[in-house]
Formats: sequence, structure tokens, C-alpha cells
Amino acid sequence: MKNPFVHYEKKITFLLLFLILLLAAANLINLSLLKRAEDRLNTELSQTLQFVAKTAIDYVERDEFQQDALEKLLIRKGVSKVFAIDPKTRLIMSAPPLVDPLSQPLWNGFSKRNLARLWMGTPSFSGLYKGKEGTFKAYALPFGTGRAKNILFVEGDARFLDVLQSGYRAGVAFTVCIFFMAAVVGLLYFRAVVEPYRKISQSASHLYEAAEKMGEVEFAVESFETVVRELKEKETLLEKLYSKSRNRADDLERFTKHILESIPTGVFSFDTTGKIAYSNQAGKEILNGIPRRTLRPLVDAALKEGETYLSKEIEIRDGRYLGISSSILRDPKGRTTGVTLLFRDITEMKNLEEEIAFKEKMAALGEMSAGLAHEFRNSLASILGYAKLLKRSLKSASKRPYVTALLEECLSMESTIKRFLDFSRPDRIDVEEFDLSTLLSEVIRGFKEPIQKKAITVRCKIPRKRLMTRGDPRLLRRAFMNVIQNAIEATMENGLIRVAVSEKDAGYSIRITDNGAGMKDEVKKKVFTPFFTTKRSGTGLGLSIVQKIVAAHRGSVSLSSTYGRGTTVLISLPGGIT
Ligand SMILES: Nc1ncnc2c1ncn2[C@@H]1O[C@H](COP(=O)(O)OP(=O)(O)O)[C@@H](O)[C@H]1O
Ligand SMILES: [Mg+2]
Repeated sequence: MKNPFVHYEKKITFLLLFLILLLAAANLINLSLLKRAEDRLNTELSQTLQFVAKTAIDYVERDEFQQDALEKLLIRKGVSKVFAIDPKTRLIMSAPPLVDPLSQPLWNGFSKRNLARLWMGTPSFSGLYKGKEGTFKAYALPFGTGRAKNILFVEGDARFLDVLQSGYRAGVAFTVCIFFMAAVVGLLYFRAVVEPYRKISQSASHLYEAAEKMGEVEFAVESFETVVRELKEKETLLEKLYSKSRNRADDLERFTKHILESIPTGVFSFDTTGKIAYSNQAGKEILNGIPRRTLRPLVDAALKEGETYLSKEIEIRDGRYLGISSSILRDPKGRTTGVTLLFRDITEMKNLEEEIAFKEKMAALGEMSAGLAHEFRNSLASILGYAKLLKRSLKSASKRPYVTALLEECLSMESTIKRFLDFSRPDRIDVEEFDLSTLLSEVIRGFKEPIQKKAITVRCKIPRKRLMTRGDPRLLRRAFMNVIQNAIEATMENGLIRVAVSEKDAGYSIRITDNGAGMKDEVKKKVFTPFFTTKRSGTGLGLSIVQKIVAAHRGSVSLSSTYGRGTTVLISLPGGIT
């Protein structure tokens, strides 16, 4: 089996070349035939001219010149003219008769050298020369006996040469035309004709190369198998790509799910009917026990009115708050496909905010009260002065108790105002070295009376040595007094109060525990708030003062309490305060 396209190009080239060569050869043969014909005619003409010349000389040299016979010979031999001249160029004879032999165009056929040789006796053919009527040929034959010879000229008609020459020229022109046309055709059309076949040939050649090595059936089977093999390879590749993209999608889904499941924010996704399409673990935990319909208004607002929120606070129940942001899910064409809600439990944050607001309010109130208290104390000082004056100058003994009562009330009020001012005034601490163990013992001893009254047991776990530390003993005494007083107040009869001191780092931890009433959570949150009290006669300043004093010593105070079981207050004081 052969590839028909492979040699197509060559074939066309050869065909064209062959045609060109054929034409050129035919033309050359033509030209050579013309040449041979010309040579022959030329030779014949020369022979005729020689013959006529010799015959004419014969006639001239005979005694009687036969003009008629010569003219007949001329006509018979097809020779146009003959004439003879003597060395002085005088006409000896001519046929047909000539007037002026020197004006003949025939002379053009002989060079000066030829003519000189003619006078010397050498016969000569003229070249060809052109007259008005065409090409002619002349033969000159010297004759006579003198040193200078007579010359006989014979002129023959060589116009056949003109015809042959035109034939020549036409032949050459034709050849040139053939080559030119071949070149033009080759240049213009050859490429255009061959190019498509060449491309086909190129693309087909590898097939034919393969095909040449085997039989046609084998080739067909092989080709079919190759196609099937290639298809299978492509299928495997596609499968690989598919599984790769599927794995990637799975990975992405897992990753997204992992993120959604591990963030502390609740994520709920709803479809267009408002049904939950997805909910993450955090979301379920946050909404634990709360009906999903609580979120319904937000979903409806997004689905029906396109209303979304960046951060909306809603109260769910038991004073718990959620911060929710909603967004509409859309497909690439912009159609709504659902709603996503992101939410967090912001109860604690909300409480903190409330607490801060409350503290700020309290601070403002405290500042105002302090100003007021200051004013009161000044007025009270005057009232006290006047009351004392009144008591001294009062004569009526029956009215003295009133003035005494007035004085006592004034003094009590002054002490309250002083305590209040002590609290609100920024603390200035006078640091000195003191023994913590002695200070605590003294404080406890100071409560001897109420302790005995309630039959409270006080268990002290204080190292039996001096616990020297630095700080303001007066302020710290006040702090411990407040804590112990609270413990006594909270403890029932026969209760137990434990005071324990331990050394911690370079400082001390003082733990005061009672097994009294304890506190509810909402009380526990507010105990350090100034003026917060659950007692009828309480000021609500006790623990606030404790916190303030401990903070001034760069220590910390914490409180743990279980309602109905008791309370522990832990005060930590760092050592080395200056
Ligand atoms: N050891 C305690 N046991 C139970 N409740 C306590 C204890 N200490 C403090 N409290 C609670 O903290 C509140 C604030 O205490 P405090 O600041 O000392 O003010 P006050 O004693 O004047 O009420 C108290 O009213 C009480 O409800
Ligand atoms: Mg108190």
C-alpha cells in the first residue's frame, strides 16, 4: 500500500518539467531542421551561383557573347543578375542589362579586403547582404589574363533566408515564451495547487509510514486499537481528574464543616421555606432548650422583606441574650436560596455592660454624695458646736436629756459621714513594718462580745511566729474587721469561723471562712458594689472598702460562697510593699 500523496508534489513537478522539456526539444528539432534546410539551400545557391558564374565567363570569353542564352540561364537557375567589370570598373557585360554597375547593392556584400583579393584573382563569395527587396547572396569570380583581373558578379535570390530567419526568431521567441510561462505557472499556481496536498501528505505520511510496514488489514486493526487505547487512556485521565476534584470538594466540605463545627458562634442555615437546612454544634448548644421558632421572625424578615441584620440583640429567656446577624444566601444568578443566621450568647457581655454602667452611675453618685457629705460635715460641725454650747449654758435640768440626745445623734452622724468620706476619699497608705499575726489576733479579740453572744467558734490557723510584713496596719485592720464582721453577721448561733494565714511567695494569704447563710448568685455578683447591702442596717460599703484597701496594697480579694452553706473570703497581700 502506497501513500498516493507522498510523491504527488514530485509528480507534478516532473510532469511540468517533462512538458517543458518536450516543448523545448520539439522546438530545438524544429530549429535544427530549419538550420539544415538553410544550409542546404545556401549550398545549393552557392553552387548555382558558381555554375552560372563559370558559364557566364565562358560566354564572355567566347568570341560572341550570347546575351539571350545567358538571360535564359539566369531565369532557369533562378539567379537574379550577373555582370562583369574590368579592372577600371567599366561594365563588360550584364544580364539583365544594367545601367550603373557601381550603384548595385551587391557591393555591400564584399569587404574592401575581399575586393582587393578579387582583383588579384581569388574567387570569393560575398556575405549575405540586404537590399530593399530582401536578402541576396553574391559570388564574384575573377577572370581574364592580365595582372589585374576582370570580375564577374553573380547575384542570387536568398530571400528564403529571410523566411527561415523569421522562422528561427519565432522558434526562439516561442522557446523563451515556454520557459517564461513555465516559470510564471510554476510560481503562481504550483504552490497553490500543491500546498493542500502537501499538508494532507504530511499529516497522512505517518499513517502511511506505519501502514507501509504492515498489511492493510493489520493497519486498520492497529489503527482501531490505537484509537481505543487512546480513548481508554483519556477515560482513565478523566476519571482521575474527576476523583481528584471530588476529593478536593470533599476536603473543602470537611474543612468548612470542621470550621463551622469548631467555632463558638452558632450557625443556622434555613431554606426558602424557613426549614433548617444546617445547624452547627455551637448553635445547638447556645439554643439548648430554647424553641427554634424564637429565630423565626428574623428568618421571615430576611426571606419576605429582604431585611438582614449585622448585629441584633434579642432576649430569649431567663435574662439571656443572643447577638444575631442574618444574611441572605443567593445562587450565582442572584436568586434567594435561603438565609443564614450567625449568633452568640451575649448574656455575659450584656451583664458586664450593665455592671459597668451601674458602676459608672455609682461612681457619679459617690462623687456627688461625697460633696454633699462634706457640706453636711461642715454644717454638722457648727450644729455640734452650738449643741455643746447649749448643753453648757442650759440651766433647766429637765431639758438637758434632749440636748444630750441631740449631741449623740450629731456625733453618730458625724461618724457615719466620716466613714463615708474615708471610703470615697482616695486612699493614702502609710507603709510601715508590722506583725500580721498580732494584727489578726487583735481584730478577732475586738469581736469577743458578739462571738460569745452567738456562741461562735473561731478557729485560727496562724503560724505561731511573728509574720512581719509591710503595709498600712490601720487600713488593713479595718479591712479584716469588715470581713470578720460580715462573717459573724452571716453565721447562725454555734456557727464556725475559721481564719487561716499561709505564706505565699513573698507575701501572705488570709482566708476567712464561715459556715453561715452564704449568698445567692445574684447577691454574689454585687457584693463589691458600694452601697449594695442585703441588711437592714447595712451601709453596703464594707466589702467595697476591703477591696479598695487591698488594691492599695497591690493585693487581691476574692469571694466564694454557696447559698446556705457558707462563704470564704480570700485576701492575698504581696510582700515588700514600700
Ligand atoms: N460572709 C458573708 N456571708 C453572707 N453574705 C455576706 C457575707 N459578707 C458579705 N455578704 C453580703 O454582702 C453584702 C455587702 O456586704 P458589705 O459590703 O459588708 O455591706 P453590709 O455588710 O453593710 O451589708 C451584705 O449585705 C451581704 O448580703
Ligand atoms: Mg459588711
